[in-house]
Amino acid sequence: MPSIHLLSDLLINQIAAGEVVERPASVLKEVLENAVDAGSRAIDVQLEQGGVRRIRVADDGCGIAKDELALALERHATSKIANLDDLERVGTMGFRGEALAAIAAVARTTLTSRADGSAHAWRIDGADRSVAPAALGAGTVVDVADLYYNTPARRKFLKSESTEYAHCDEMFRRVALARPDIGLQLAHNGRVVHRLPAADHARRVGALMGDDFLAQARALDADAGPLRLSGFASLPAYSRASRDAQYFFVNGRFVRDKLLTHAVRQAYTDILHGNRHPAYVLFLELDPAGVDVNVHPAKIEVRFREARAIHQFVFHALTRTLAESGAGLASRDEAAAVTTASAAYAPAARAPDERPRPFGGYGNAPPVQGRLAMDSASRSYFDFVGTAREPAGAANLAPAPTPTASAAPQDFRPTAFAPAAGRPIGAIATSLPQHADDSAPLGYALGQLHGIYILAQNAKGLVLVDMHAAHERILYEKLKTVLDGTPSVQRLLIPAVFSVSAKDMAAAEDCADVLAGMGFEIAPAGPQELAVRAVPVLLANAPVAELLRKLLEELREYPASEVVTARRNELLATMACHGAVRAHRSLTIPEMNALLRDMEATERADQCNHGRPTWTQLTMGDLDRFFMRGQ
Ligand SMILES: Nc1ncnc2c1ncn2[C@@H]1O[C@H](COP(=O)(O)OP(=O)(O)OP(=O)(O)O)[C@@H](O)[C@H]1O
Ligand SMILES: [Mg+2]
Repeated sequence: MPSIHLLSDLLINQIAAGEVVERPASVLKEVLENAVDAGSRAIDVQLEQGGVRRIRVADDGCGIAKDELALALERHATSKIANLDDLERVGTMGFRGEALAAIAAVARTTLTSRADGSAHAWRIDGADRSVAPAALGAGTVVDVADLYYNTPARRKFLKSESTEYAHCDEMFRRVALARPDIGLQLAHNGRVVHRLPAADHARRVGALMGDDFLAQARALDADAGPLRLSGFASLPAYSRASRDAQYFFVNGRFVRDKLLTHAVRQAYTDILHGNRHPAYVLFLELDPAGVDVNVHPAKIEVRFREARAIHQFVFHALTRTLAESGAGLASRDEAAAVTTASAAYAPAARAPDERPRPFGGYGNAPPVQGRLAMDSASRSYFDFVGTAREPAGAANLAPAPTPTASAAPQDFRPTAFAPAAGRPIGAIATSLPQHADDSAPLGYALGQLHGIYILAQNAKGLVLVDMHAAHERILYEKLKTVLDGTPSVQRLLIPAVFSVSAKDMAAAEDCADVLAGMGFEIAPAGPQELAVRAVPVLLANAPVAELLRKLLEELREYPASEVVTARRNELLATMACHGAVRAHRSLTIPEMNALLRDMEATERADQCNHGRPTWTQLTMGDLDRFFMRGQ
């Protein structure tokens, strides 16, 4: 049996390097962050061969004293924290004392540094740790050559020079965006790629994101107590097809955080077409004690103590900024111009005055809120199921509000609690049947809560319905029934054309039969473009491009034969999810009642396709107990 023994320091460091030094860009990140932490005003980066051959970073920061040079290359040696308290409120980029040790273990590394007040500089060689006098005016030069020269297994994982360079460039941009006060320069193979003098935020963002981004973005600066959110967020007209122009910094650190991404995404929900992505550079600042940065080897994820509050703050600050800017209008223009979305949203169902309008075209109504509310109304529950309603359901249906009524100014309420068009909230109760009877087990709608839940009154008390989940289940069941036969097809007046990847193109071709069987008629419209000419009636008003992209993504994972049989229901679930009315759409009372009746008529309506409940009941007894009535 092999004996247990301690690993050598070099091997320990090489193993640790696996976490920290994934590729040249991660070396660049660590070395740049050290330069930032050293209080530098100017940083110069030189790369050779995508950073694999050499990464050299020179700064004018505080430098490292001669007798600390060797320590800087040791693991667990840092000048940035001393105890747990420091760690819990760390204000520097680094704090582990790992990076240089890891880098020196997998690349030929030298540090040359002249500490403030020192007569000259000293250089340490990472390989033998020898220290010798050197010439340098001020600051530190870190030179990292031949990455992975001693770990060939890892070297094999490096990609082409241009790919590795692209990652380095991205890393450089992140630091440059976070710190406009520092002058930065980057050269690759001797050619200067970025020359960024110290500047204010706007100028730096313009230099890196492009002036067209700045022109189409709104600046924001909001605070709430200890929280501050500032930066720039694009108006929908500047949206992108990918997520590549999204930068979020928390206390100066670039992060990729689900919570923050979600909050941003949500702020754009109503104003951005589904397959477009916003561009933004946002800075969240908060007390360092409120955020744990020690959760990821590359420090790219963080954990917030007050996650909910931060989500709310970011969502609201961004929503407000976008609203002030007339973003809703821009999105409509853009949707029509860029994606032919107009074809996807059943033109016939649109109110006559729903043309794109110039900013402020609604008289006294707050222009954007109004616009958003109307967008919601125009794609409400009726739009989604109106054409496909079964006769039984239709009998229960209160008359649909006319499009002009739903666009009436009264409906432009900023809150999602939208009474039936034009009626004050107080009047709703009188429109309820006096006795909610057994014929309507789920009762009659009272209103909508934050655009997510429907509140209804039935014989037992209060019913709460998750609008999206319930509609998703109804659509799913309907799709299943319909697709057992020949699906009714809705031809689009104008085909919806959208761009797809080569892979999706191939999947569309391979699975044309499967898709036709579901009611989609699709044909290539260009080398990387698909045209949708018909969709299943049930999905006539769903966002077609978004839906099909999702379907193709799933289809290309499996052979066509498998799709038709085993995976059909999964595909239907995807269709239902994308076809279902989204949260934050305001529904009118009759629309809500129609949804309740549909739920009653649908099998398994109690749970959505993901197994979450779609509704719950609070009886009068529950409420009496809560308010301690009669005790
Ligand atoms: N450019 C620099 N200028 C001045 N001091 C530096 C520089 N680079 C490194 N140092 C010193 O070397 C120490 C070790 O750096 P290293 O990057 O390994 O660890 P760290 O930055 O403290 O923590 P982390 O591993 O989280 O980056 C730092 O704490 C700092 O004192
Ligand atoms: Mg560091």
